[in-house]
Amino acid sequence: MTAPAPPLRIGLAGLGTVGIGVVKIVQRHADLIAARTGRAVVITAVSARDKTKNRDADLSGYAWETDPVDLARRDDVDVFVEVMGGHDGPARAATEAAIAAGKDVVSANKALLAHHGQALAEAAEAKGAVIRFEAAVAGGIPVIKALTEGLAGNRITRVMGVMNGSCNYILTRMQNEGLTYETVFEEARQLGYLEADPNLDVGGIDAGHKLSLLASIAFGTKVAFDKVELEGIGNVSIEDIELADDMGYHIKLLGVAQLTGRGLEQRMTPCLVPAESPLGQLQGGTNMVVLEGDSVGQIVMRGPGAGMGPTASAVMADVIDLARGFRVSTFGQPAASLKDPIAAKSATPAAYYLRMTLLDKPGALAKIATCIGEAGISIDQMRQLNKPGEADNKATVLLVTHKAAPADIAHAMAQFDATGVLIGAPVAIRIEEV
Ligand code: NAP
Ligand code: HSE
Repeated sequence: MTAPAPPLRIGLAGLGTVGIGVVKIVQRHADLIAARTGRAVVITAVSARDKTKNRDADLSGYAWETDPVDLARRDDVDVFVEVMGGHDGPARAATEAAIAAGKDVVSANKALLAHHGQALAEAAEAKGAVIRFEAAVAGGIPVIKALTEGLAGNRITRVMGVMNGSCNYILTRMQNEGLTYETVFEEARQLGYLEADPNLDVGGIDAGHKLSLLASIAFGTKVAFDKVELEGIGNVSIEDIELADDMGYHIKLLGVAQLTGRGLEQRMTPCLVPAESPLGQLQGGTNMVVLEGDSVGQIVMRGPGAGMGPTASAVMADVIDLARGFRVSTFGQPAASLKDPIAAKSATPAAYYLRMTLLDKPGALAKIATCIGEAGISIDQMRQLNKPGEADNKATVLLVTHKAAPADIAHAMAQFDATGVLIGAPVAIRIEEV
């Protein structure tokens, strides 16, 4: 008779939303997990800042470590689960300590991996360890597994998606209720939907972290978060949401990564998408990731991008893989084989939505149209809006272009000022074909 496999022992750093979710799954589904993996999966030790905090979970069976680095080094820990957050500080120190001790790491920390993923992956491989991070991208959606396993036989052509639930909540609530950005931002803050530093969400940084991790796996390149073209949702106005809606579009914070002949394009920016498309229909805090492969075509994955249950579900998927002895390189291939990406500024042409306020006088629109024409851009639709309350000498003008290169749009807009007819700053939003 063969001896039963020894338990897989977790050291859990972080007992907040995600950490307590992990505790609950380990406790609630102990039998189910043992049946699936052929061994027990247990938590031996935990760490958080405040030992006295009531955490609505029974932690009495676990050793307590004040310092997560000590937790990472414990002899009775096989897998270090990092759910503290932050791209430096204790999260980085403890992850490095776990790897130095030869332990596998499971992390929900997209910021840490976006900033230090390559170095951490190389260090892990040198020790024969792996880092898994299903929970770091799109919460409960198993998108890392889809890319590294389910689609491993494909050349990935494009990765796209809405990956920040807080931004999608704000944009859909503005859309559905006709509320301003400022009102909904404050509401989201009070409901606790935003990160402690809200700019991580509304500035597009959190979603940019996630996109850069997906791009690395998809294209076999080193994580290049610093090369993601980032624009948050802070300038999306209720006026643009309503005008876009009138034309059959919704505004989403959309990430797109693709390898073109010029290099790797990564952008996370507000875009117009067709209102009836799956991305256009996405409501509230839900995430959606679209993966395109040369053999499979298009895969669309939709689900909860955050929250205790969904995020812990993803953490446990990684832990269970390790318990089963299933080990995939951190970014789906050996870290040393990941290429330095040639970062390309977004050049894929698209139609653009342009909104601006002009002096309402003869020739004003012609001057703007000349700037656009001279940049080689063709106008598809144009409307002058008579907004209630707008002064007689002002007109809001809405233009939709035919497909144009982003650089040409930027060039045309740079000429607008010199016309002397522009009032305030014009708005340009890409219309993405999805
Ligand atoms: P959280 O609720 O703020 O919890 C963070 C935990 O880390 C707390 O228990 C905190 O201790 C502990 N911690 C912080 N600094 C520490 C230190 N120096 N030493 C020991 N423990 C420390 O955060 P969360 O929402 O669970 O998120 C955790 C990670 O998961 C982050 O990387 C986040 O980006 C990622 N993530 C979160 C979600 C989500 O829906 N929440 C979704 C996907 C990914 P105290 O409790 O004592 O303060
Ligand atoms: N702030 C993130 C979001 C949490 O809103 O999607 C999950 O990563």
